[in-house]
Amino acid sequence: MSQALLRASGIGVRFGGVHALRDVTLSVGSGEICGLIGPNGAGKTTLFDVVSGMRRPDAGTIAYDGTDITRRSPVWRARHGIRRTFQRQQLFGQLTVADNLLVAQDWRGGVRPAVRRHRERAAAVLHECGLDALAGSYAGGLPVGQARMVELARALADPPRVLLLDEPASGTTAEERRQLAAVIRHMADEENCAVLLVEHNVAFVMELCSRVVVLDLGRVLAEGAAAEVQADPAVREAYLGTGPTGREPGHLDR
Ligand SMILES: Nc1ncnc2c1ncn2[C@@H]1O[C@H](COP(=O)(O)OP(=O)(O)OP(=O)(O)O)[C@@H](O)[C@H]1O
Ligand SMILES: [Mg+2]
Repeated sequence: MSQALLRASGIGVRFGGVHALRDVTLSVGSGEICGLIGPNGAGKTTLFDVVSGMRRPDAGTIAYDGTDITRRSPVWRARHGIRRTFQRQQLFGQLTVADNLLVAQDWRGGVRPAVRRHRERAAAVLHECGLDALAGSYAGGLPVGQARMVELARALADPPRVLLLDEPASGTTAEERRQLAAVIRHMADEENCAVLLVEHNVAFVMELCSRVVVLDLGRVLAEGAAAEVQADPAVREAYLGTGPTGREPGHLDR
């Protein structure tokens, strides 16, 4: 694996009596696409909240490029290249698709000198995401698959170094997933971005990720090459067994 750009160490988060995360450690390297999978409630989104700075962990640290950023704000992290999408979409519905990108860019240093550069970057990202035709449409009325792509485009509005994608393929068509996969691959291969991909569509994860980390009930249950992890009996049990917690059966072979 390439040297870790992002490392979460010993992360713990509690919500009252619920341990959403317990001693979770994982790393992602530049140019790597790492899958993060696990049944509902495993703690995946909570971990993204901690990495993006939206939630302070009760235990553990986040290191970015060798520096401890555990106490840095979400804005600081976004400005320094840690970008994310949201499982529950958070687009600005009353703004156009293009403006959703412009508001996500770093405008420090003055508006005037930056306008052309930011517009060009936004246009290039929209093009790469297949969204040219929607640039002037209001984001609020878009079907879910297109809205997911706009969420991704917004995360790319300034060049990311770490990309956290929370169920980007959920609600998408096969064609949209092809486009999504191409953009994610481009970000890792050409832009040297470290990608953490949370996704219930296991086929999508297996296709894109060399390494997969499995969370279950807030802990790292398994970690390794995609095929190995998929065959791991403990992972299959977590997904397929309803067990004593009465969790819904998962869909590891989809
Ligand atoms: N704001 C909150 N307040 C209380 N409990 C929470 C909160 N957010 C998450 N939890 C709990 O923490 C645990 C982890 O939730 P989280 O949303 O991180 O899981 P997830 O792996 O993203 O699940 P899913 O696949 O359904 O998105 C769950 O038990 C959830 O109910
Ligand atoms: Mg989630």
